[in-house]
Amino acid sequence: MSIIYIASDHGGFNLKTFLVQYLKDKGHDVHDLGPSDPASCDYPLKAQAVTDALLKDENALGVLVCGTGIGMSMAANRVPGIRAALCTTEFHASYARAHNNANVICLGERVTGQGLAASMVDVFLSTAFEGGRHLRRINLFNK
Ligand code: RB5
Repeated sequence: MSIIYIASDHGGFNLKTFLVQYLKDKGHDVHDLGPSDPASCDYPLKAQAVTDALLKDENALGVLVCGTGIGMSMAANRVPGIRAALCTTEFHASYARAHNNANVICLGERVTGQGLAASMVDVFLSTAFEGGRHLRRINLFNK
């Protein structure tokens, strides 16, 4: 069971809504930080809601969805301590955790279908960071 903070903008609202139910059905502790409707909204503010929550809850992981995943990843990666990975394949999702210790997966609703998105999130949540030389490398990010 993972603790998950998830948010989207309007461009990612449908995929976010799908993933919230998918992850709840799997028994995860899902915190939906919005939006609650598909009205136009600004993705940096939604990214900030998730990154703020993650900085207070080190054991949690984040999911951010916009149209492409690009804006969410740019916004989230501006925050020290956040390692957000824009993923389009299960290979990305696996290595984002194993080698990069990513704590946020970013997805694009206009790019990625629901089935692949669900599989990527499953892989992201179930893959452990390998540490070792990879820890040395991620520790160099903020130097
Ligand atoms: C919204 O139209 C779109 O720009 C946004 O969802 C995202 O793709 C930005 O990176």
